[in-house]
Amino acid sequence: MDIRKEYLEFFRSKGHEVISSMPLVPDDPTLMFTNAGMVQFKDIFTGAIPTPQNPRATSCQLCVRAGGKHNDLENVGYTARHHTLFEMLGNFSFGDYFKKDAIAYAWEFVTVNLAFPTDKLWVTVHNDDDEAFEIWSKHIDPSRIMRFGDKDNFWSMGDTGACGPCSEIFYDQGEEHFNSSEDYMGGDGDRFLEIWNLVFMQYERTADGKLNPLPKPSIDTGMGLERVIAIKEGVFNNFDSSNFKPIIEKIEELANKKATSENIGSYRVIADHLRATSFMLSQGILFGNEGRPYVLRRILRRAVRHGYLIGFRKPFMAQLLDTLIKIMGGHYTELVENKNFIKEQLTLEEDRFFKTIDLGMSLFNEELANTKEIFSGEIAFKLYDTYGFPLDLTEDMLRDRNLKVDLAKFDELMNAQKAMAKAAWKGSGDASNDGDFKQLIEKYGINEFVGYENITYKSKIVALLDEHFKEVKTLEKGTTGWVMLDKTPFYATSGGQMGDIGALEDNKHVAIIEETSKFHGLNLSKVKVENSTLTQGESVDAVVVNRYEIAKHHSATHLLQSALKMVLGESVSQAGSLNDANRLRFDFTYPKAMTTEQIEEVEDLVNSMIARGISGNIEELPIDEAKNKGAIAMFGEKYGDVVRVVSFSDVSVEFCGGTHVRNTADIGSFYIVKESGVSAGVRRIEAVCGASAIKYTKDIISKMNEIQAEVKNSDVISGIKKLKEQIKDLKKEVEVAQSQTSTPINEELIGDTKVVVAVVENGDLKKIVDDMKNANEKLAILLLQAKDDKVLIVAGSKNTNIKAGDWIKNIAPIVGGGGGGRPDFAQAGGKDVTKVEEAKIAALNYAKENL
Ligand code: ALA
Repeated sequence: MDIRKEYLEFFRSKGHEVISSMPLVPDDPTLMFTNAGMVQFKDIFTGAIPTPQNPRATSCQLCVRAGGKHNDLENVGYTARHHTLFEMLGNFSFGDYFKKDAIAYAWEFVTVNLAFPTDKLWVTVHNDDDEAFEIWSKHIDPSRIMRFGDKDNFWSMGDTGACGPCSEIFYDQGEEHFNSSEDYMGGDGDRFLEIWNLVFMQYERTADGKLNPLPKPSIDTGMGLERVIAIKEGVFNNFDSSNFKPIIEKIEELANKKATSENIGSYRVIADHLRATSFMLSQGILFGNEGRPYVLRRILRRAVRHGYLIGFRKPFMAQLLDTLIKIMGGHYTELVENKNFIKEQLTLEEDRFFKTIDLGMSLFNEELANTKEIFSGEIAFKLYDTYGFPLDLTEDMLRDRNLKVDLAKFDELMNAQKAMAKAAWKGSGDASNDGDFKQLIEKYGINEFVGYENITYKSKIVALLDEHFKEVKTLEKGTTGWVMLDKTPFYATSGGQMGDIGALEDNKHVAIIEETSKFHGLNLSKVKVENSTLTQGESVDAVVVNRYEIAKHHSATHLLQSALKMVLGESVSQAGSLNDANRLRFDFTYPKAMTTEQIEEVEDLVNSMIARGISGNIEELPIDEAKNKGAIAMFGEKYGDVVRVVSFSDVSVEFCGGTHVRNTADIGSFYIVKESGVSAGVRRIEAVCGASAIKYTKDIISKMNEIQAEVKNSDVISGIKKLKEQIKDLKKEVEVAQSQTSTPINEELIGDTKVVVAVVENGDLKKIVDDMKNANEKLAILLLQAKDDKVLIVAGSKNTNIKAGDWIKNIAPIVGGGGGGRPDFAQAGGKDVTKVEEAKIAALNYAKENL
């Protein structure tokens, strides 16, 4: 039975729309991964977006629970039922049916379609949910309905959002197969297997923890496909089902070792993590040190460590992928499409970790021998920092032994390292330290940015710093330092937008602002004093230069992101950007190079958005409202409660603190200059607009003029074509000339026969042999030529005892070849150009012996 299909068809027959699985990376910075089927509908539940025409939906959603609120990573390999990645079957009602129908549908599917015996089934409801209890009593004996509290029977996606009490269906796999003390209803054992969770969505939890009733009570359910398959197949562990078994067998084959009851956990971890890492990679998540990329790295390294335990010493995961594809690739074609990319990425990351795992494991084992209760935080940090062991991997290695890491020490070292990295980043070796900035903030507070509205401002110099960030009273003419203005129009580098440059001036002062950056929230500008002295407390005119061009590039970046999503798909997500007055650079996740057509399409789209003259709108909104507008956020960025949203009608809506044009028409025109790869899975577009676009086109035109002059044709293409023809003709002439100038050849007389054996660099061997035969009465000739890694041999005989065919058969093997021919003419080829001289000597000896 194809349970996935059976389920979707069942709910389709009950009026549900079948919706496909959404990406693992949700468009929601508060959520690490898509962790339930309801994630793609969360805004419908809260009423933030309108209910679709059909208020019933069903899906089979790929979920990852390896970070954030729902995290099963630690359980994988230790229980029969937890996975980092799994498939969740679900049916959803958006204010349509509620508890009664949801329960009736679930019961019908479980007892009729799945044909699970009713005496195996148990149900739980929330302590306070008498209604659900009543409804269930109509289907199942009340003695099999249990009540639990919030921990078991209240479900929420994350810390905020739609939530509600829930009711779960359990399958009793039989007392005879389980013997842990946790194997009772409500315990942590595997005997009573939760197969389906019905959530009665009734509330929205706000950031302050309040539960507000939803506009319309709704239904969200989730059934674990892997668990149901295992029950149907009569196995007591998901990993023994057809979903995982072939992978485990493949691991056994590669490791050349059958799993034992002692080490089966490692095989299971690898099988599970193969699925999670392969799917994450196929959806554009890459290995890295923060956020989702770090979760991916942790999962892979955990798999490698278990591989290490069962004897692998070099990358092995990629060799398992084909087996996974056999199981899941039919339904999830992204695995097949990205097969090579996934293999390459897995192997690269495994390689990185295998390089240090040996040393790390010996350090770990050494320390373990000295550990009584608490494992040293210093060593855990060293394992992390030097050997790439994520903290939870070390914790995992200690788990069997009931040991814990000294987390306080680990955190202390981690924080110290972060502070050092920050300090190192800040300066060009400057002696700045956090203390200097903290002191400044204590003394003067944080200064205000007034540059959204102004590009000139009468500002007061609150503080001056020398080049090493030490506070000074004045900056003399000719010196460079930093200035803090009370209200500054200079934008400090952030969000990919370069900081402003400009000047401080009035009839007394001239000072150039060379850059503007943020230090602990302080907005400071680097200043070079050209005239007079800058003194603390003075007021000056602060003038921003070139901001308009920066704004054009920044707005164009937003349009570009939107166009890329239109052309390449919604899963494209920003991986970095840079905007300055002359160019923009946008990095994004995409597994392969864009085609010329795609690049053109994106360029055309952006230009059409510019041509439409769309007004920009900038507003400050509470974060939830901003998200409801569909604003694109960067994952990993921290946003406050109120965010700035920059939109150009419905074409582009983004969270952004940067400066922008008022209307897309201000951008002028837009050209993509280059598309390239930054790292595997990440592409980069470089582009120009505004004044730089004019310069770009002018440069091209002037180059074109030069080319016209060079090819002496106003139609440069036919000019170039002509030149190419000429080159072709010339090449031919050269070839002919070469074939006519043959290398001088040595001859020797043996008796009255002329013997010629030679290596000929240029010339047509066959022709030389023919010519010589015409010119001589008695001739034995064998010529060799090495060209392009190949050897050619031609032999001829006229009125001698030597048979050309035999001669060549004898010689050709020396150069790794073969051939033959008639007694008077023969030819052969060979591969080994290094043996040509040897063959020549052998050929001469043959002639001497056989004449
Ligand atoms: N959203 C519910 C869960 O994940 C159904 O358990």
